[in-house]
Amino acid sequence: MDTLNEDQRIDQAAKFIKDSNRILLITGAGVSAESGLPTYRGEGGLYNDGMTPDGIAIEEAISGRMMQKDPALCWKYLVQIEQSARNATFNRAHEVIALLEKEKPELFVFTQNVDSFHTMAGSKNTIEIHGNFRTLRCTHCHYTSETVDYRTISIPPICPECKKFLRPDVVLFGEMLPEEPLRRLRMESNKGFDLVISAGTSSVFPYITEPVFAAARSGKPTIEINPTGSEISHLFTINLAMPAGIALDRIYHRMLPY
Ligand code: OAD
Repeated sequence: MDTLNEDQRIDQAAKFIKDSNRILLITGAGVSAESGLPTYRGEGGLYNDGMTPDGIAIEEAISGRMMQKDPALCWKYLVQIEQSARNATFNRAHEVIALLEKEKPELFVFTQNVDSFHTMAGSKNTIEIHGNFRTLRCTHCHYTSETVDYRTISIPPICPECKKFLRPDVVLFGEMLPEEPLRRLRMESNKGFDLVISAGTSSVFPYITEPVFAAARSGKPTIEINPTGSEISHLFTINLAMPAGIALDRIYHRMLPY
């Protein structure tokens, strides 16, 4: 595929999607970059500074351990991350992904993003492997609630039922992945995918790279959309080195009948 020019790559990507029924679309922070959200790594990344003003690494500040030890400190940094998504909404990338699902009912969005933009854009088959910021759950009892803006709650929030701390239903550093989304991913992976697309992720976790390895092993096509590429770019059938919103919009237009 290396010999193809950009237009030909877009054409080929559109053809792969048209020819596929079961599609896994893996997304990461880069997909929300065009909504104005910072990514975690790379230019302007949230983790780039490393140390927090409290003298601890950001990975320590927003860890499961810190949520137990010092919920107020952990919440302080969670609010900063939530703040960056406030007033922002989904972009053309999320929109096209939701449109594609309408044509391909067996398209699954496997996202690491906690911003809920895929759901807001209309995607139904969404596997949120890192949870989402909108759902709060009690650290002690079964209480859960939904919130769209952390400014409307006291920080750290207290459970109205048992008076212990609430926390966002997201995976913090050092925590296990949630059982339900993992189960759904496993179930769909066992049925196999005709195509795997990875958009806007640095692909640092094994559960993110594994579906790409699996597709490559079984000779299935794969597409990566990432302006700078990732550690596993060489594995993909097609690399689209451009912003996700632009790439997906161009692909979608190629798929429309004229
Ligand atoms: P990263 O910040 O690690 O990577 C974002 C990727 O998006 C980079 O490879 C960028 O090159 C790419 N990118 C930037 N702008 C883009 C655009 N407009 N279109 C497409 N790609 C673009 O984010 P993730 O891979 O999502 O976990 O990070 C994975 C996880 O690490 C996050 O979910 C978070 C973090 O620790 C938790 O919070 C549990």
